[in-house]
Amino acid sequence: MTESPFGATSTTDDVLADIDLSGHVAAVTGGTGGLGLETGRALAAHGAHVVLAGRDADKLAAAQAAIRDQHGDASIETLVLDLTDIASCRVAAMSLLTTNDRLDLLINNAGVMCTPFGRTPSGFETQFGVNHLGHMAWTVPLLDLLSRSATADSPSRIINLSSAGHRFGDIDLEDPNYEHRPYDEWEAYGQSKTANVLFSVELERRVGPLGVRSAAVHPGGIHTDLGRHMTPEVLTQLKARIAQTNPDGDFSWKSIPQGAATTVWAATTPVLAARAGVYCEDCGVAEVSDDPTASAGVQSYAVDPQRAATLWDRSMEMLATA
Ligand SMILES: NC(=O)c1ccc[n+]([C@@H]2O[C@H](COP(=O)([O-])OP(=O)(O)OC[C@H]3O[C@@H](n4cnc5c(N)ncnc54)[C@H](OP(=O)(O)O)[C@@H]3O)[C@@H](O)[C@H]2O)c1
Repeated sequence: MTESPFGATSTTDDVLADIDLSGHVAAVTGGTGGLGLETGRALAAHGAHVVLAGRDADKLAAAQAAIRDQHGDASIETLVLDLTDIASCRVAAMSLLTTNDRLDLLINNAGVMCTPFGRTPSGFETQFGVNHLGHMAWTVPLLDLLSRSATADSPSRIINLSSAGHRFGDIDLEDPNYEHRPYDEWEAYGQSKTANVLFSVELERRVGPLGVRSAAVHPGGIHTDLGRHMTPEVLTQLKARIAQTNPDGDFSWKSIPQGAATTVWAATTPVLAARAGVYCEDCGVAEVSDDPTASAGVQSYAVDPQRAATLWDRSMEMLATA
C-alpha cells in the first residue's frame, strides 16, 4: 500500500478535514443511498457543488433534503440517470453539460450486485450493463468538460467504484453478456467489477495526459442496500468466500462514512495526481496480487492494459448498437 495518513477506519470527514472544495463541481451516481449519498454529503459539506444522480426522482429529492438537513448551505442539484437505459445515460450527460460549465470530480458509484439473470432494454446482462456499460455511456460525453476543468495544480478525477468482488470473475471479452455460457450471479458481479477497474486503466491512458486522472476503488464491506438481491443461499456463498480469503476471521465491516472514505480520498489525494489508473482500498493504492488467499490487492487481470484497451473497444461497439 502507498503511504497515506488515512486507513481502513478513516471516515469521509477525516479525509476531507483540511480540504476546501469550493468552486469545484462533483457528480455522484447512485447518490440516493448507501455510499453515494454519504459521498455526496461529504463533498458538499466541504464546499463542492454536487450533482446527485439517481434513477428515482423521489429518492433524489429525499437525498437532497437529507443532506440539506445536515448542511443547510449545501449546494446540490439532482439529475435523473437510469443506468439500465443507455438513452437515459446520454440524456443525463447532456443535461449536466447544459447546467454546469465545469466538472472536477466524476464519481461513478452506483451499482447492483448479484442480480438474478436479466437483461437491460439494450440486451446487456444486468450487472455488466448497469455497473459498466451504463457508466461508460454517461462518462464518455463528459470527458471533454472534465478535461477543460482541469488545471496543472488540480487535475480532474474520475473515480469508479469497483469491489474486492472483482476477484469473483475476470471479464469474458468474448461473451460479456452471457449469451453462450451459464449465468452465475457472483461471477457476473465479478466481471462487472473487473470491468470497472479496466475502465479506469484505459481512461487513465486516454485522458490522463489531458488532465483527467482515474482510479478504481474498493470501499470495504459495508452494510447498505447493495445486498437487496441476495437470497439466503447466495448470502451463504458470500460468507464462505469471505471466510476463504480471511481464514483468521479478521474481516471487519465498515461504517458508511468509513466505506465512502476511500472514494473521497481517491478524489482528492495528491498521490493520484502523480500516479493514477490504479485500484485503491483503505485510503491507499493497493498492490497487484494474484495470491488466491490474499484479502487485499488487485488481480493482475483487472489492471492489464491490453485487456483494458480491448474492453474499451468492445464496449464502444456494444454501445453503438444501443
Ligand atoms: N457495500 C459494500 O460492501 C460494497 C463493497 C464493494 C463495492 N461496493 C460498491 O459500492 C457502490 C455503492 O454501493 P452501495 O453499497 O452504496 O449500494 P446501495 O446502497 O445499494 O446503493 C447503490 C446505489 O446505486 C443506485 N442504482 C442501482 N441501480 C441503478 C440504476 N440502474 N441506475 C441508477 N442508479 C442505480 C441505487 O439507486 P436505487 O436505490 O434507485 O436502486 C443506489 O443509489 C457499488 O458500485 C458497489 O458495487 C459496495
